[in-house]
Amino acid sequence: MVTNSVRPLLLSSSNDGIARASQLLRDGELVAFPTETVYGLGARADVPAAVAQVYAAKGRPAVNPLIVHVPDLAVAQNLASFDDDAMRLAEAFWPGPLTLVLPKRPDSEIVPAATAGLPSVALRSPDHPVALALLRATGLPIVAPSANLSGRLSPTTAKHVLSGLGARIAAIVDGGGAEIGVESSIVATGKAPRLLRPGGLPLGAIEACLGTDLAIDAGSDHAPEAPGQLASHYAPRAILRLNATASAADEVHLGFGSVPGDLSLSQSGDLAEAARRLFAALAELDARGPSKIAVAPIPDQGLGRAINDRLRRAAAPRDQRHG
Ligand code: TXA
Ligand code: MG
Repeated sequence: MVTNSVRPLLLSSSNDGIARASQLLRDGELVAFPTETVYGLGARADVPAAVAQVYAAKGRPAVNPLIVHVPDLAVAQNLASFDDDAMRLAEAFWPGPLTLVLPKRPDSEIVPAATAGLPSVALRSPDHPVALALLRATGLPIVAPSANLSGRLSPTTAKHVLSGLGARIAAIVDGGGAEIGVESSIVATGKAPRLLRPGGLPLGAIEACLGTDLAIDAGSDHAPEAPGQLASHYAPRAILRLNATASAADEVHLGFGSVPGDLSLSQSGDLAEAARRLFAALAELDARGPSKIAVAPIPDQGLGRAINDRLRRAAAPRDQRHG
């Protein structure tokens, strides 16, 4: 435990900060750290109490499995069985914003709660120098869901993590703003490769690598075996209205491209910029206390797929919130 210190410890991404963070992780504590997609909430994947703390701190339903983070493919191969497609994808895109759902090896040390009891495990190698240094220094598989309260906006800065999770966690490593801004794309390989969540790696790049179209199974994200196809997630406090080219009096307006809005995701219509700014922009507009946020149309291509997926979930009826 961290004693005689104010929680959470705010650590820099210096060697000292990473060493301190790695020791806390090894001690079974929760440590938030930067990745190229969003900030993750790290904990040992091989210790039941550490994994249980992750679910408790986030208020996350136990049916929603976690992503295990590894420094490289060699470590990942100790934890899961890679078929040819999985090998091809990992070699092409790791480290990077791609999570692979694979059969968990029976001899892996990952505890059942980390995968919500599933026989599969989600693995990812993040493309961020601080995350990779931390994973190497710790030398253990680390679960890392996005470092937000369940159902809320994902964090792209250390400040977001602090305001969302605060004293529920032991430490936050500050690595600046997340470069991509939306979570990893999730792919399950096997007989027919499936996209389980659109994310930071565009679908077209994944399909080009595999030389085949992916089945889209993204409705199951955040509740792999549950109904609720559009469960509320990524939600600000305000109600969201999508595809809004103009706003009403009781709305603030999030713009994109030719729709200026009160704040724009990208005035030039750049989807990478829009993804990077998405969660921070929603948080900023939400902080103005509106009852509704109107959101400009976003093209459903490239990173726009991931942006629209997050926006649809943010706009979903709130009584369906879980995950
Ligand atoms: O970019 C990211 O992936 C970030 C950063 C921190 O790495 N992490 C992240 O984790 O987004 P999280 O917990 O917010 O999302 C994990 C999702 C779950 O909601 C679930 O849908 C899926 O991954 N997942 C995990 N294990 C799975 C499994 N065995 N089968 C199917 N889906 C799984
Ligand atoms: Mg999340």
